[in-house]
Amino acid sequence: MTIRAVVRGVGHYLPERVVPNSEFEALVETSDEWIKSRSGIERRHFAAPGQTTADLGTRAATAALADAGLAADDIDAIIVATSTADFTFPSCATMIQAGLGMTQGFAFDVQAVCAGFAFALTNANALIVSGQANRVLVIGAETFSRLMDWTDRGTCVLFGDGAGALVLEAQTGTGTTEDRGILATDLNSDGRFKDILHVDGGTSTGTTGHLRMEGKEVFRHAIEKLAETAHRALDKAGLNAGDVDWIVPHQANIRIIEGTAKKMQVAMDRVVVTVQDHGNTSAASIPLALSVGKARGQIKTGDLIVTEAIGGGLAWGAVVLRW
Ligand code: UT7
Repeated sequence: MTIRAVVRGVGHYLPERVVPNSEFEALVETSDEWIKSRSGIERRHFAAPGQTTADLGTRAATAALADAGLAADDIDAIIVATSTADFTFPSCATMIQAGLGMTQGFAFDVQAVCAGFAFALTNANALIVSGQANRVLVIGAETFSRLMDWTDRGTCVLFGDGAGALVLEAQTGTGTTEDRGILATDLNSDGRFKDILHVDGGTSTGTTGHLRMEGKEVFRHAIEKLAETAHRALDKAGLNAGDVDWIVPHQANIRIIEGTAKKMQVAMDRVVVTVQDHGNTSAASIPLALSVGKARGQIKTGDLIVTEAIGGGLAWGAVVLRW
């Protein structure tokens, strides 16, 4: 008997305010044309003043619970992938737990920046497979608009706010790749590259700080590392790229998404793309894309999905799951 962590529900939430590229033309020396052609981004959502990361995550979690036909009391654990928790502590996860009215179980954050959802899924899978939890709510929630330096055109046009969530549930599988659920994961990090993508604030400075990125360098690492980690995860599952129904990548840049798909020899009509509408929402981008991909009718029960992401740390990873 093999226990699998199977997706029972999915949901997302995007703040109301939609910000088109043209709004940045008044702020910095940029153009809609540059942003679109260099990143694929056309618009992004920004949280309203006072709207917190936990608010976004709570709404996405509520949608995922409704999709699963479950109540908060049916959940054993909450894992939130975020780098924009509203406070140093308590965790965003316990704030979402309270927001859902959930008084049992446990909740904690995972911080692996844009790769956070792959790390959170891997942790949730471990809890379920080891029998420590039956149902885990896995949430990616971010308000990266709060980390922007609005004078830095190289970063401020790229990021957005949002949240997505999955309900994972222990189900009995056969132990084959035909099982639904998480089939393999691959996580990596290398702190030598901490300076190329970081926030220059925290307890060491007494300020929240701003996101700083050497875009070209991060781009180079992404192109090199994403296909590698996806292939390793597929290998661990005993599958290959030809078996993949959908790549659901981290949505940072359409050129990275296309480059990775090309390296994996997967056609772009098998890649879920939301970067044009959401920008880079860091750890929220994969659950957002899963939720939107399902709503569009792209992702269906039984489909084999590979997610892959890279971000600050550097940290990167991939998850293979059958929907
Ligand atoms: O999610 C975490 C991972 N993050 C990523 O994966 C992001 C990775 N990096 C990227 O997506 C790309 O590197 C960027 C979209 C950030 C930049 O694209 P690029 O093709 O690498 O451009 P670049 O940084 O080499 O900049 C090219 C030019 C520069 O001007 P010069 O030096 O050639 O005169 C920049 O100053 O474009 C300029 N530039 C801009 N021009 C108009 C940079 N930002 C802008 C802007 N508008 N917003």
